[in-house]
Amino acid sequence: MTGSSSSTSPAPLVILTTRRLVLRAAADADIAVMHERVFGDTDVMRNVFLGNVMTMERAESFMREHFTFGISRTGIAILTEKANGNIIGFAGLFPCKALEADDLEIGFVMAKQAWGKGYATEIGDAQLAMGFEELGCQRLLGLVEPRNAASIHALTKLGMRFLKDVTSPTRPPRSVYVMSSDEWRNRRA
Ligand SMILES: CC(C)(COP(=O)(O)OP(=O)(O)OC[C@H]1O[C@@H](n2cnc3c(N)ncnc32)[C@H](O)[C@@H]1OP(=O)(O)O)[C@@H](O)C(=O)NCCC(=O)NCCS
Repeated sequence: MTGSSSSTSPAPLVILTTRRLVLRAAADADIAVMHERVFGDTDVMRNVFLGNVMTMERAESFMREHFTFGISRTGIAILTEKANGNIIGFAGLFPCKALEADDLEIGFVMAKQAWGKGYATEIGDAQLAMGFEELGCQRLLGLVEPRNAASIHALTKLGMRFLKDVTSPTRPPRSVYVMSSDEWRNRRA
C-alpha cells in the first residue's frame, strides 16, 4: 500500500521535497497506514510519546489534532519516499513552547523499514532550511528523550547543539537542542 489518496480527492499539499523524500499534508487514507507502521509499533514508539503504542482510535485523534490535513505548511505531515510514494513516517515544523516562547521545533519519526538510510538527516536538513530561509525563524529547536541515542545523533549531525533539559507535568524529561539562524548561515557558508 502506498497510502496515496483516491483519484477523486485533490492531491495533498506538498510541503518539502528532498533528493529522496516528499513531506506532504495528511489525507484520511493515511491514518490506518500510520497506525500500522508508526503509532502502533512498539519499537518505533519506544522513545517517543512516553513509550506507549497508540490504539487506532487514539492515533486517529492524535493525527486529526496535530497533523496538517489542509493548506498549512507547518504542523506535522506525512513523510514519503519520492520514488514510489511509500509512507515512511512523519516529520514537520510544529509550534513548541518548551522554552516558554513561540518557537518552532523540527521532528522526525520513521517506520522501522526506513531506519538507517540517512532519511532523518535528509528531512531534518530540509526542515532547517525551510525554517530559516522561508519562514525567517531566529532559532529552531529539536526535542528528544535523553536516552534516544539515534535521534540525538541525527540532531547533532544536523549541527544542533544541546541547550538544556526540560520537564513538564504531562511529558517525560526531554533534552532541548537548538540552532540559531547565525549558526545556520555559518554552517551553509
Ligand atoms: C531516530 C530516527 C529518527 C533516526 O532516523 P534514521 O533515518 O535512521 O537516521 P539517519 O539514518 O539519518 O542517521 C543519523 C545518524 O544517527 C546514527 N544512528 C542511527 N541509529 C542509531 C542508533 N540506534 N544509535 C546511535 N546512532 C544511530 C546514524 O548512524 C547516523 O549517523 P552517521 O551518519 O554518523 O552514521 C529513527 O530511528 C526513528 O524514527 N526512530 C523511532 C522514533 C524516534 O525516536 N524519533 C525521534 C524522536 S525525537
